[in-house]
Amino acid sequence: MTRTPVNVTVTGAAGQIGYALLFRIASGQLLGADVPVRLRLLEIPQGLKAAEGTAMELDDCAFPLLRGIDITDDPDTGFDGANVALLVGARPRTKGMERGDLLEANGGIFKPQGKAINDHAADDIKVLVVGNPANTNALIAQAAAPDVPGERFTAMTRLDHNRALSQLAARTGVPVSEIRRLTIWGNHSATQYPDVFHAEIAGKNAAEVVDDRTWLADTFIPTVAKRGAAIIEARGASSAASAANAAIDHVHTWVNGTAEGDWTSMGIPSDGSYGVAEGLISSFPVTCKDGVYKIVQGLDINEFSRTRIDASVKELEEEREAVRALGLI
Ligand code: NAD
Ligand code: LMR
Repeated sequence: MTRTPVNVTVTGAAGQIGYALLFRIASGQLLGADVPVRLRLLEIPQGLKAAEGTAMELDDCAFPLLRGIDITDDPDTGFDGANVALLVGARPRTKGMERGDLLEANGGIFKPQGKAINDHAADDIKVLVVGNPANTNALIAQAAAPDVPGERFTAMTRLDHNRALSQLAARTGVPVSEIRRLTIWGNHSATQYPDVFHAEIAGKNAAEVVDDRTWLADTFIPTVAKRGAAIIEARGASSAASAANAAIDHVHTWVNGTAEGDWTSMGIPSDGSYGVAEGLISSFPVTCKDGVYKIVQGLDINEFSRTRIDASVKELEEEREAVRALGLI
């Protein structure tokens, strides 16, 4: 039986994350080794030529699952019939730019893209926002798409989740595959909170295995939360292959499910769980099944965690206020 190809739209396709992402999507790693895909590359006019070059290389890979590539600078065309949208292209902060300027510039990108998704995407559209500030950009796009169920708009904290897994594995000397139930809470920013209190290392409670709150507070949490800045410092450019890898993980898990007994972290619209103000796009522990995610309920939040979750949620509330004041939501 020939399956209908899934339409995957990637914005910022000519950027560095786009270059690390597209080949993996086309090879079947995003959705599955038996799922054909059609790629839509959305760029700004200055990026179109480079996107064409990337499309030539995609052709040259002769990927059996790749059923076509369209390149456009028109959001309405780019999201037409999209089943999955990866919103990677964003306005980076440049010298002299204030936080409000950055939010406003990104509003100019994510508002029209949200509207184009609303008007042209397929009914089963799933959206992942990667471009920073990812959580608030997702909020802007969601607000511009009132006909799309709000829970289809998500923001990427899987890179933070993967970073936390690696740091914990290195500290405890166990393979990443032995660690489960780790959580990133809050914003994809330096206020995020990587929580090991419910995590398990080879079946034992991770906080008890580590048994060192000073290491958690002074080394683990800041290392994970500031890893993006450390990569920029070391590479002279922000993370690209690891960000693309996390985007693949995020969508693959959302579509194909979490492993039995495990969960992952996704930035999703809050339903008020764990005291996170309703509507904020904040990272939670989630399980996924049949293309639907659910917040893991009933976790005890200790004082150490509560303070840190609240601080990150407060930052998200401030970002929401700022974009509200700008008329973006
Ligand atoms: P990049 O500058 O290499 O590429 C961005 C691309 O987006 C460019 O080709 C640009 O032309 C394009 N673009 C800009 N505006 C666009 C628009 N309106 N429509 C379509 N395309 C547009 O940047 P990058 O390294 O690929 O990073 C992209 C974004 O991802 C940045 O905002 C970065 O901060 C963010 N990021 C997020 C995470 C995360 O974990 N959430 C991790 C790493 C990077
Ligand atoms: C990252 O976490 O690597 C990025 O969000 C950093 C950045 O500012 O682009």
